[in-house]
Amino acid sequence: MTHLPGHHESYWMESAPATGVHPTLAGDLDVDVAVVGAGIAGICTAWELARAGHGVALVEADRVAAGVTGYTTAKLSAQHGLRYARIERTFGAEGAKLYATSQQEAVEHVAAVSAELGIDCELERVPGYAYAESADAVEELEAEARAARDAGLPASFVTATDLPYPVAGAVRVDRQAQFHPRKYLLALIDDLVRNGGQVYERTRVTELHEGTPVRLTTEAGHRITARHVVVATHYPVFDRAMLFARLEPTRELVLAAEIPADRAPRGIYITQEQNTRSVRTAPYGDGRRLLIVTGEHFTPGTADVVEGYGKLAAWTRDRFPDARFTHRWAAQDNTPTDKVPFVGRFHPGTDHVHVATGFGGWGMSSGVMSGRLLAARIAGDRLPWADLYDPGRLHLREAPALLKAQASVARHFVGDRLRPSHADAVEDVEPGSGALVRIGGHRCAVYRDPEGVVTAVSARCTHLGCLVQFNNAERAWECPCHGSRFDTDGSVIHGPATRPLEPRPLPPATDG
Ligand code: FES
Repeated sequence: MTHLPGHHESYWMESAPATGVHPTLAGDLDVDVAVVGAGIAGICTAWELARAGHGVALVEADRVAAGVTGYTTAKLSAQHGLRYARIERTFGAEGAKLYATSQQEAVEHVAAVSAELGIDCELERVPGYAYAESADAVEELEAEARAARDAGLPASFVTATDLPYPVAGAVRVDRQAQFHPRKYLLALIDDLVRNGGQVYERTRVTELHEGTPVRLTTEAGHRITARHVVVATHYPVFDRAMLFARLEPTRELVLAAEIPADRAPRGIYITQEQNTRSVRTAPYGDGRRLLIVTGEHFTPGTADVVEGYGKLAAWTRDRFPDARFTHRWAAQDNTPTDKVPFVGRFHPGTDHVHVATGFGGWGMSSGVMSGRLLAARIAGDRLPWADLYDPGRLHLREAPALLKAQASVARHFVGDRLRPSHADAVEDVEPGSGALVRIGGHRCAVYRDPEGVVTAVSARCTHLGCLVQFNNAERAWECPCHGSRFDTDGSVIHGPATRPLEPRPLPPATDG
C-alpha cells in the first residue's frame, strides 16, 4: 500500500482517556428524557437537562465522544466559512443575526462552563479567518465581512494574517476559540453522572415508536420508555421526516503535524480554495504545537482517498516546511441544502421527539447550541432562534440545492448499478483492498485483508439500497447516497443505516 503520512488515529482520541467505561443497558428503562447518540450534540443536551433536574439517559451505540465528534478539527467558532452573506439572502438580516447570536453564545457557553467546572480542555480564544489567496475572491470576502458584521459578529475585512504565506484578503472575526473536544465532553459526562444522569455505551437503539410515552427498542431487545426522546445520531436514524433527503454527506481528510511553537499561526483559518483548506494548532508539549490541516472534501464512496491524503500532505509541506506528520484521520459532515442545521421538533406530528443534525462541518458550536436549544424546548421554553433551526422550515430558495442533492442520489442509485463490477473475480482483489465483485448473481463488497483473508458482504446499503464503495485509506465501505459507513465485516460505523451489510458466501476456491 502507498505510504500515508502520520499514523491512522485521531489526535483527540489518542490524547484523552479511552471510553467504554459505562455499562451496556441490561434491562428495560423508564426515564424522563432519552438522548440517543453521545456525540457533542447528545452529550450537551443530556448535560443541560440533567443540570436542570430532568431524569436523563444518554444511550450510545458505540462509545461516548468517539464517533464523528472524536474526529473533528474542533474549531469552536461562529464564523462558518463564508456563510453569513448566504444566510442573509435566504433567511433575511434577522435570520443572520439569530444565527450569529446563537453560535457565538455557544462559544461563550463553553468558555463559561469550562471555567465553572474547572475543565482543562485546552480552550484558547483566538481570531478566526476565512481567507483567499486569489484576488478574484476579494469582492466576495468583503461582502461576507459586511454580512457577518451586520449579523453582530466582531468581523472585519483584512489583507494580512499570521499564516506563513500571503493572502489576497480575509474576513477576520475576533473572540472565537479552539479546544480539545473530548477533554471537554468527557468532563461534561462526569458531571452529568454526578447530576444523576445515566450513560449507556454499546447500546444500539434500533426502533422508535412514537406515542406517550415514546418507546425505544435496543438491538438486545430492551425497552426504553421516555416522555421525550432526542435523536442526536449525526445523520438521524428513525427519519420519519425524511430529513436525509435534505442533507448532503461529505467527508474530509485531516492531517496533524508537529511544528515548532514559534512557527505556529495563532488563529483558526479556512479557505474555500484548493478543495477547502482549514488550519488550526493545538498544544503539543514543550516548544511545539500540533498543526491540524483539513481539506479534500468528497462525497463518501466517491474518491481515491490515498490520493487525497497525498494532495493534502503536499499542500502542508509546501506551506509549513517544518511540519513532521504525526496523525491522519477523516471527518464526516452532513450539510442541509440551505446550510442551517436542523434542530428542534423532529416532524410536525410530534411534540416529544426532537432532533439535532446537519451541522455542515461546524459541529462544535452547533452541537453546543443544539444542547441549549433542545433542553430549553423540552423544559417548555423557546429560544429566540428556535424558528430559524426548525427542521420543518422549507424555503423556495432551497429548491435548486434540494433537487441537485436528489439528482446526485439518483445518479448513484442508478449509475452505480450500471457500472461494471470493480473486479471480475475475488482473486483479483489485492491484499488490504476491497472491490465490488459479482458472486452468484449478487453484487458483493469483497475485502481481502493484508494477510489474505477474504470477507464478502452484500454491496447493497441497508439504508435505501445504493451500492457501497471502498475507501482505500480507511479500509471501510461507504455509501455515496447518504453517507452510511460500514466496517469490512459489514458492521455499521456510521448511519443513517442501522443494520449491517449481510454476509455473503464466497465461491469455494477463493475462501481465504
Ligand atoms: Fe442511504 Fe446508503 S446511506 S442508501
